[in-house]
Formats: sequence, structure tokens, C-alpha cells
Amino acid sequence: MTATTENSGGVVSLRDSLPPRDRLGRPLHDLRISVMDRCNFRCPYCMPEDKYHAKFRFLDRAERLDFDEIVRLAGLFAQLGVRKLRITGGEPLLRNGVADLVGDLGRLEAIDDIAMTTNGVLLAQHAAGLAANGLSRVTVSLDALDEETFTRMSGGRGGVRRVLDGIDSALEAGLAPVKINAVIERGVNEHAALDLVEHFRGTGVIVRFIEYMDVGNINHWSQRDMVPSVELKTRIGKRWPLEPVDPAYRGEVASRYRFADGAGEVGFISSVTEPFCGACSRARLSSDGRLFTCLFAGEGFDLRSPLRDGAGDAELLDLVSGCWRRRTDRYSEQRAEIRAERGEARKVEMYYIGG
Ligand code: GTP
Ligand code: 5AD
Ligand code: SF4
Ligand code: SF4
Repeated sequence: MTATTENSGGVVSLRDSLPPRDRLGRPLHDLRISVMDRCNFRCPYCMPEDKYHAKFRFLDRAERLDFDEIVRLAGLFAQLGVRKLRITGGEPLLRNGVADLVGDLGRLEAIDDIAMTTNGVLLAQHAAGLAANGLSRVTVSLDALDEETFTRMSGGRGGVRRVLDGIDSALEAGLAPVKINAVIERGVNEHAALDLVEHFRGTGVIVRFIEYMDVGNINHWSQRDMVPSVELKTRIGKRWPLEPVDPAYRGEVASRYRFADGAGEVGFISSVTEPFCGACSRARLSSDGRLFTCLFAGEGFDLRSPLRDGAGDAELLDLVSGCWRRRTDRYSEQRAEIRAERGEARKVEMYYIGG
């Protein structure tokens, strides 16, 4: 029998009053908030130009959650156990006043880490303001250091110099540790892996290599285009010997290695070859207020409608915790079976929930 207790809303079970665990026993610890579905890049593996052209219908301003709505939801997620926030896009720095949002989120007591993932092109002008408003750190996506490959990876947008200036500004502003996310595609930017390591070794910036994943449906992913982490690690380790480092926290996405000569560390995010669903405590909120319990989910749970229809905190808490308690996602662990059985399932696109 389930123990019960009284609260102002009536009788609730004790189990329901505790921070929720999903069906696989995983708590809710991280919330990744997408604040903007648009991006000023057109990386072919995420937003290919032929689909995301000038006439593509992105969300209207009114469809996106406003800052008060985001902060209210984040506060409720914090009541359910969230301690880490990550602001993503599309490109989050395209959202006007995003530093103000950071400031508001920073006032939530339970939150102890607010990070941002950006392509870095607008970072030089925003880094100081973000840091002043309480952003803890940034992760910058950078797939190559030579202009030609960079251009190919970004769909002809941005430029290496501007991203590097953005990274320098982030370091100056103390948004540390600055991390770099690099997606390496077979035969496209493989050489960039060693370039990036060579460039950032000894600077305190941590380069992480993400295995190219079958997120969404538009990138026509094939496992053949993915370079397994073990291969990159071997190539890097031959030139600069590496030693494993313990995870910084349970469920850390990247496997960490330090350079034996003390010049810092690199990470590998191996969602394809070494899935990490077992400890996945991440929820994702799209800019129009849908809650996704997996990066590979087909559908999100609409929180914006109840929010705008006047739902009280208790009702919203119930909706979110119910959604989390029903969660069974472990796509990366099931990828091979799912793809073999069903082929390409309908999945949310990366730019819409920010990775
Ligand atoms: P730290 O707090 O710095 O450890 O950040 P993080 O590694 O959680 O965040 P980041 O956004 O930098 O993650 C890097 C990339 O890893 C994302 O952009 C995704 O591509 C991938 N990733 C992050 N979380 C997940 C996840 O839950 N599942 C899968 N499959 N990939 C993920
Ligand atoms: N596979 C792996 N990483 C991806 N990213 C975007 N699409 C993919 C994909 N299909 C990365 C971006 C960015 C982060 C948010 O996710 O390069 O660094
Ligand atoms: Fe590229 Fe990130 Fe923009 Fe997607 S959201 S197009 S990965 S910069
Ligand atoms: Fe979490 Fe889904 Fe990624 Fe697995 S595939 S780690 S459940 S987001």
C-alpha cells in the first residue's frame, strides 16, 4: 500500500511528493532550455540550407516562451530536482536580451550551474555581459580551424576568426572552463581533430569530440559517416599520450582524458559506440515550451498551453513529474534494434532542442 500525506491540495501519495524518478530509476537533474529555434549557421548535419532557406517558417515571437515563462518553468523544474541549466538554441545569442534571462535564472536558489552552448560567432560581443549576469561557462561548437573546412561545416556562415575571438572573450570574462564541441565526419573534417587538439592544448580550453549522431531526420545520417571515438582517441594519443580521468559527476556525457604532459584534457562523447543512457538525467525544453525526455524523441509534451491557460504551480509540477515518471527513453542503447526494426523513426530536429 502507498503511504499518503495531506497537503493543501488534498491527499497525495508520499511517492508523488518526492523528486521524480523515471521508469528506469533515473532522477531529473539537468534542464536544457532552447531559447531560439533560429540559427545564423547552416551546418549541413543540422540545418541544411536547402531545407532551412529564406522562406522556412520558424517560430513566431509569440510562439516562443517569454522570459517570465521560462523562469517560472525552470523554477518548477528546480523543485523537482534540477540543479544544472544549459541554454541552447538553434543559436541562443540570437535571442534578444538572453543575458537578462541568465540573470533571472541565476536568482533561482537551487540552481548551481548555468551553461550555454553557442556557435561562438556572436560571443565576443556578449561574453562580458553574460558573465556579469551569472553565466557559469560556455561551450562553443567548432568543427574545424581552417577556413575552407569550417565553411563547409557551417554551411558557408560565420568564420574561424570570429569564433576564436569569441572564445578569447569568454576566457577573459571568466566563463570557464570553456569547452569546444567538435563533430567529426568521415572524409569531411577528420584532419580537424588533430588541428583542434594542437591549437587548444595548454590553453585551458577543453576540446570534446562528439560522434556524429542520427538526430532528427533531415541529415540522412549513415553510420559510415561517423568516426568512432576510439579511433580519434588512438590518433590523438599517438601524438600526445593520454591518460583516463574520472568523470566529474555521475552521468557525465563526455569520457575525459588528460594529456600525460600536463597540457590539459580532451573529451569524447560517444553516444553511438558507447551509449550513456543509463545515467541520463537530462530533460529538454524547446523554445515553444515542449518538454522532450530524450534527444531522439518524436514528440514533446506541451507545457506552453497549460502555462498560458493559467495552470497553477501544483498542476504544472504534476504534469512535469508525471511526464518524467513515465519516461522509458534509452534510444542510444536501442539504436541498432530500432533502426533495424522500424528504419528511420520520426525524431525531433537538433536545432529545435539544441542538442
Ligand atoms: P557538461 O555539463 O559541460 O558536461 O555539458 P554536456 O556535455 O552535458 O553538454 P553539451 O551541451 O556540451 O553536450 C555536448 C553534446 O553531447 C550535445 O550537444 C549533444 O550532441 C551530446 N549530448 C548531450 N547530452 C546528450 C544526451 O543526453 N544524449 C545524447 N545522445 N547526446 C547528448
Ligand atoms: N550529431 C552530433 N552532434 C551534433 N550536433 C548537431 N547535430 C549533431 C549530430 N547530428 C552538435 C553541434 C553542437 C551541439 C549542440 O551538437 O555541433 O556542437
Ligand atoms: Fe550548426 Fe548548432 Fe546552428 Fe545546428 S544549431 S546549424 S549545429 S551552429
Ligand atoms: Fe538520454 Fe536519450 Fe541521449 Fe539516451 S539517447 S542519453 S536517454 S537523451
